[in-house]
Amino acid sequence: MSEDWSGPPAIRLPQGLDLHLELGPGPRQAGLEDALRTAVRDGRLGADARLPSTRALARQLGLARGTVTAAYDQLAAEGLLLTRPGAATTVARLPSAATPVTPATDTAPPVRHDLRPGIPDGSAFPARAWLAATRRVLARARPEDFGHGDPQGRYELRAALAGQLGRTRGVLTSPGQIVITSGFYQSIGLLASVLRARGAAELATEDPGHRTYREVVTRAGLRVVPVPVDEHGARVDSITAPAVLLTPSHQYPTGVPLHPDRRRELASWAHRTGGLVIEDDYDGEFRHDRRPVGAFQALAPDRTVYCGSTSKTLGPALRLGWLAVPPDLVRPVTEAKERADFYTETLGQLTLAELITTHAYDRHVRAARLRYRRRRTLLHQLLSTHPDFTPHGVPAGLHTLVTTPHPEPALLARCAAHGIALRGLTELHHTPAQDRPGGLLIGFGATTDHGFARALRALDEALPG
Ligand SMILES: Cc1ncc(COP(=O)(O)O)c(C=O)c1O
Repeated sequence: MSEDWSGPPAIRLPQGLDLHLELGPGPRQAGLEDALRTAVRDGRLGADARLPSTRALARQLGLARGTVTAAYDQLAAEGLLLTRPGAATTVARLPSAATPVTPATDTAPPVRHDLRPGIPDGSAFPARAWLAATRRVLARARPEDFGHGDPQGRYELRAALAGQLGRTRGVLTSPGQIVITSGFYQSIGLLASVLRARGAAELATEDPGHRTYREVVTRAGLRVVPVPVDEHGARVDSITAPAVLLTPSHQYPTGVPLHPDRRRELASWAHRTGGLVIEDDYDGEFRHDRRPVGAFQALAPDRTVYCGSTSKTLGPALRLGWLAVPPDLVRPVTEAKERADFYTETLGQLTLAELITTHAYDRHVRAARLRYRRRRTLLHQLLSTHPDFTPHGVPAGLHTLVTTPHPEPALLARCAAHGIALRGLTELHHTPAQDRPGGLLIGFGATTDHGFARALRALDEALPG
């Protein structure tokens, strides 16, 4: 009986070294080729290393000599080995193959406390309700439900959302005006491509605002122009572009809602100029002190695209988002979606529709709102003991912006040294300027309740003063 406890067979290289080769099951030549390829790629067989002669290797491995010759020839043809008549076979000098890949050493301290903004508590994902909804969806699925989907999205989900958004956010829409996407990231890309195709050259976005979406818009061929933000939200009087991306319910990142006067001014700008408002209602479900302010869309439904997603309520992993678009944009947006990726995965759409129509979604959002409200209160209690840190914004969402006279890079470094992950304000400005105050975006969603209490203690130590 072979002693297979001792691991893969070792072969003796001409220079006297042992080399362990993992010869997998299956055809022997292919197994030997794979084992040698792996040894070259992971650096165990470095450049110029001499391999045993075909006769010696065949003897050591109990293979036919022809098998070894064929394997060497194959790897020589791939450029990994050099074979010359009358000379030993060697490993070729190939930087990418022959040099061992040294993993980049990550010198950043490990993250122990996740206070990144805008991430919901994954441990509170309603797994049981999601599973039950999936079961019901599958139990009643027809064969065609497993076929190709509709680029606009499953009707069941569009109908559920039209009712849900009207009821909870005051959105004026219908199932025929909703387009399902794979999250806001895709939504804004689709909208930017439609605007570009219609001849627009610019899109106005809030300053500060989410950098990722500015990048998506730029990649779609539009120039982003800044709309300054103050304590009443975006300065809508400064919009010169034909379209604007805004977060009216809870400006990201400052946390202020758009002032009622500015909402009216924005609606009249849209009607007067024919401009398009893209409303990113990313966390409109989470107002902690009162009923949420309704979506801006209701003031100008023919000039507004309302955007939402499950990323804050359920989790970004689902990649499910939606647009409520004016009637004239349904077709171009649906066509852009079809060009982008055909349609969004449909069984998840049906499950979300089931969650909404059985009210399990509302129940989950209510419970999540209570949890985040409690955590926000704890965070603000802590901040009140650090007078150099000024919180901004209304009680809403999953994060708070604090500004401070302390230099932002040093603060971020202190937080990192305490194992805290959060974001700085500066990166969200269109053009970082010296005269603007630095700040921190502190999230209260991402951890568990228990983890949040520990994270706050770490933050207390990390913040100076
Ligand atoms: C400002 C803002 N908008 C929208 C989203 C949602 O993006 P998505 O649906 O692509 O996950 C986020 C989430 O990170 C966000 O921070």
